[in-house]
Amino acid sequence: MLALKNMFLFPPIKTGYGDGSGMVTDRHLAFYKARCRHVGAITVEPFYLDKGLREIPTQLGLDSDDKVEGLKKLTASIHASGAKVIAHLNHPGRMANPNIPGNYFISSTDKPCENGGAMPKQMDRNDMENVVRLFTDAALRAKKANFDIIELQFGHGYLLAQFLSPLVNDRTDEYGGDFDNRTRFPLQVLRAVDETVDLPVIVRISGDEMLPQGIKLPEMITFSKILDKQNVQAVHVSAGSVCSTPPWYFQHMFIPKGKTWKMARKIKKEISIPVIAVGQINTPEDIETVSNEYGADYIAVGRALVADPDFIGKYMAEVPGTIRPCLACSEGCLGGVRSGKGLQCLVNPHIGEEKESVHAASQPKRYAVVGGGLAGMEASIILRERGHTVDLYEKDQLGGQFNFAPLTPNKRSLAKLVPYLKERLNETGVKVISKEAAETDLVGHYDGVILATGSKASVPAIAGLDTYYWAEILLEENLPENKHVLIIGGGLIGVDIATGLIPRNNRITIVKRTIDFGEDMEMIAKNLSLKMMKEKKTVFSDHTYIKKIEGRTVHAERNGEPIQFDDVDIIVVSTGMKSYNPLEDTLEGKIPVYVVGDAATIGNAQDAIRDGHRIGKEL
Ligand SMILES: Cc1cc2nc3c(=O)[nH]c(=O)nc-3n(C[C@H](O)[C@H](O)[C@H](O)COP(=O)(O)O)c2cc1C
Ligand code: SF4
Repeated sequence: MLALKNMFLFPPIKTGYGDGSGMVTDRHLAFYKARCRHVGAITVEPFYLDKGLREIPTQLGLDSDDKVEGLKKLTASIHASGAKVIAHLNHPGRMANPNIPGNYFISSTDKPCENGGAMPKQMDRNDMENVVRLFTDAALRAKKANFDIIELQFGHGYLLAQFLSPLVNDRTDEYGGDFDNRTRFPLQVLRAVDETVDLPVIVRISGDEMLPQGIKLPEMITFSKILDKQNVQAVHVSAGSVCSTPPWYFQHMFIPKGKTWKMARKIKKEISIPVIAVGQINTPEDIETVSNEYGADYIAVGRALVADPDFIGKYMAEVPGTIRPCLACSEGCLGGVRSGKGLQCLVNPHIGEEKESVHAASQPKRYAVVGGGLAGMEASIILRERGHTVDLYEKDQLGGQFNFAPLTPNKRSLAKLVPYLKERLNETGVKVISKEAAETDLVGHYDGVILATGSKASVPAIAGLDTYYWAEILLEENLPENKHVLIIGGGLIGVDIATGLIPRNNRITIVKRTIDFGEDMEMIAKNLSLKMMKEKKTVFSDHTYIKKIEGRTVHAERNGEPIQFDDVDIIVVSTGMKSYNPLEDTLEGKIPVYVVGDAATIGNAQDAIRDGHRIGKEL
């Protein structure tokens, strides 16, 4: 029995908040403390079982007894809220990080992951015994550190899934081949852990690896029936593999919501123990659907709690306020972990600094914020929360350029952000003034002005470039069909525009001066977008400088050689942005001025929100 206080739990998410020692840090304590208040259980980030098996350099460890004291502090702080604490034990096998010195690689196979990774040693009996010992030793330490539940990772393409998977496991001994053989070693690990510690055990599986010859649901249903008979207390049904199908593993916005919920339902029908559903459960409606229609016993909510630590509290009406929505974009969270900065969030600038709440201003003042993009809206909200009076000037639509982001078909979930910020403006009492602010509106009327006027597309000087589009081509009234579109600039905006135009049967040519198309994109979105573009026969022309446009012919130079693109119907320019800040000079010396967001430095959506947040807290 898991005996949680409610049906919600936080799943295992690597935070990257460690300091390299494997020990608990203040960042871990603050992160989980902020998220444990309303859930039944917190799964602490996956532990490494041996220093040579890390996925990221800053991962938490459970490989030695000196880790126990810090973990006791962590479990005590989570227990104080009434939540239980789950220790997620995972051996990455061949998916240990090849860039971490000292890591070693073992697997059911001697073949590396085809998408990168080190060459593993195929495990022999001795290796298997060592692995079992790593799991049982870690489970004992988890018990000593007062964890309540053990979760064993049998999915996501890690070691035990490398045994389960018919695609990866190419052994010819009794640990490879048919289903009984492939399940043998994972079940040995399970039994050993269960016999070693008297803690309830959950098993996390990939219901489907979403690969032609990978793990499939029918086998996982049979496997779950076996788990049912093995004293397992719940089956946690995710999908995908870290090697081949990360979008499924991370439940990226590019993949459809609900497939994992269906898998959980199918498994639930066949077993008597509880099932945990997971995957983009990030609205109150999703919670209702997953519990009522899909019959999940427990619901794992990951990124929605990263984006808003009170997501469940707000859903249960225990906390007032609007839910800050998770966009399933993975930009800040996965992007932050991958970059080494640690988990961040596009929509949640508080993350990582949970301890520092927003303090009331010592002296309330009157501020004007000029520009209602992400930076301007966030600055206005925080200033207002702190007790200042705020007028927000926006001549067009609130949300600025971010209104274009959800126009790409795979990015519809981004559409949740601007309405949320509008709601917060409303809740906090920011006055929105629909006009272009002039000097006379500002000087003498406020104590300070925040300039958040954003950026404009930077257009290169090209002979004959008279008519062209930018991202506004994705607006319904502009969307072309059956045209040849040449996109100049192959960064995030160019790639997004291409993926928005392809479904309308447009033929795309995209050119870039350098080589890395989509270089500023989040990794999963980049890979999936470029894959789709290649499949749809997009012409990629790197190292290409556009020289001249004559009618429907575009002349260019590639590696010093002249080339040309013929029959071009439409040109899109997405060669970067430049700050737009027309008021700073005018206002200088007349009123205190603070420039934020793109108006100060070109960045992405997360940078804009963070900068608005920063100024909101500083003034
Ligand atoms: C940054 C990040 C790191 C993650 N790390 C792990 C991991 O190490 N092991 C694992 O099983 N799942 C990991 N996950 C997957 C989550 O446990 C969860 O299944 C996924 O985020 C989908 O749930 P959600 O949509 O509620 O976030 C990670 C997810 C994110 C975003
Ligand atoms: S970065 Fe995106 S996916 Fe990750 S938690 Fe924040 S909003 Fe959700």
